[in-house]
Amino acid sequence: MFKLILIFLIFNIAHGYEFQNATQLESPWYAYLMVLGEPCGGSLVKDQYIVSAAHCFNKVKKDHYTNEEGKLEAAVKLKLGIWKTDRDPDCEPGVDDQICEYHVEIPPNELKVHERYNPNSGRERYKNDIAIIQLTWPPRMSELIKNIDLPDDDDCYEEFEEDVWTVTGFGMKPDKEYATTKKRIDLRMISKEECEDGLGDAKQFYDPKTHICGKGTKGETTCVGDSGGGIFAKSSSGTTLQGVVSFGVSECGTVGAPSGFVRVACYNDWISEKIDEWEDDSDESYSSKSVKSRLNIKRKKQKSKTSSGIYGFFSLFG
Ligand SMILES: *[C@@H]1O[C@H](CO)[C@@H](O)[C@H](O)[C@H]1NC(C)=O
Repeated sequence: MFKLILIFLIFNIAHGYEFQNATQLESPWYAYLMVLGEPCGGSLVKDQYIVSAAHCFNKVKKDHYTNEEGKLEAAVKLKLGIWKTDRDPDCEPGVDDQICEYHVEIPPNELKVHERYNPNSGRERYKNDIAIIQLTWPPRMSELIKNIDLPDDDDCYEEFEEDVWTVTGFGMKPDKEYATTKKRIDLRMISKEECEDGLGDAKQFYDPKTHICGKGTKGETTCVGDSGGGIFAKSSSGTTLQGVVSFGVSECGTVGAPSGFVRVACYNDWISEKIDEWEDDSDESYSSKSVKSRLNIKRKKQKSKTSSGIYGFFSLFG
């Protein structure tokens, strides 16, 4: 890890490429997290549930995972409907076609980190890099706040070479400042071989079974602060959360360097299970239907599958 950090500092080169700003209506499922002062992202997958990366919470004490006595709320701030972090509402004076709504801050009620995530497990430390937060109450949905569908279960095994997917976030730009306007990058999904070749030292953490990689052409990579946010695929049947930003090469902004994501489809069952646990505990469940059926999981074909064995993911940007 020290080595990675060192390399990051040395290669802190301001590349000429300026990341594209996302539009205000882009990724309305995006949750902006501030975890003990460090930014991370998340995705609203259902009315009050946010999927993020486990490593975002490495510094949060386990006994602060619930909000008794406001402990979780003190460690994790969470905002929805946010486009610019330096103004609230986002709209700029004199600029047309912007929506003027205040950011929606909702206290987290409970955090669940994948049981088999272990930041101290060496090469395995980015396996199962997934976490889910239950908000204290659901946000009011709007043009700026919407949830995103989970992928088809089968996407856990799928190759997506040449598909182009989109990531948004407020992570570090090549000038080493965190973005204050939501950024958007489009990445071409690449093969296991191409990913391994590009990852360099970070290759040791890569598990092709549970990670997926994407590559830009002009130095677009994810970076510190993007972790936990989503990479999403748009198709005629809708937009799906395919990955969670997890790791990458330490020199973010390197032309042609891959960015690594948790394959969300391999965790569909885990996500549903965690939500079920919460909703079973709750007297005020909205409906008696099983959660899985209410979660919007895109199914290409019906096929039963267990979640066995497919986990893993590593994060660099803790
Ligand atoms: C993104 O938005 C910021 C703030 O409005 C602006 O200063 C910057 O020039 C924009 N960047 C691009 C690439 O359009």
